[in-house]
Amino acid sequence: METYTDPAESLLMVLREKLGLYGTKAGCGKGECGVCTVLLDDRAVNSCLVPVGKVQGRKVETIENLSRGGKVHPIQEKFVEKGAVQCGFCTPGMVMSAYALLKENPRPNPDQVRVAISGNLCRCSGYKQIEEAIMLAADKLKD
Ligand code: FES
Ligand code: FES
Repeated sequence: METYTDPAESLLMVLREKLGLYGTKAGCGKGECGVCTVLLDDRAVNSCLVPVGKVQGRKVETIENLSRGGKVHPIQEKFVEKGAVQCGFCTPGMVMSAYALLKENPRPNPDQVRVAISGNLCRCSGYKQIEEAIMLAADKLKD
């Protein structure tokens, strides 16, 4: 798709306002809350801090990429199963951080899961359910 925009505009704003991909949430805009997390060349980044001019020719994945053909990704499935989604505002960013982790390390230990989501703030569900959901997703994905 060809879209024209200011290269200094944030990737987050382009995803939401130019491409209509509203799954990536807008929060602090300062790299502090993680709700805007997407994958850039397989690594989790805060899209609010990335000027869109820097992503040319690179691979960007958003939460919309995870559910295919009406089927949710195992990470999403386990978030629901464990009650790790309350208001859900943090959830897309949290899921994307987990997705980046499991791409790089399919068998993480709980400490590695905690580190991977340390940049994602959740004020509702508590991190325990989120960590458990990610460990269960890792188990499911290796089957
Ligand atoms: S909106 Fe990007 S880190 Fe908060
Ligand atoms: S579920 Fe509400 S902030 Fe995480």
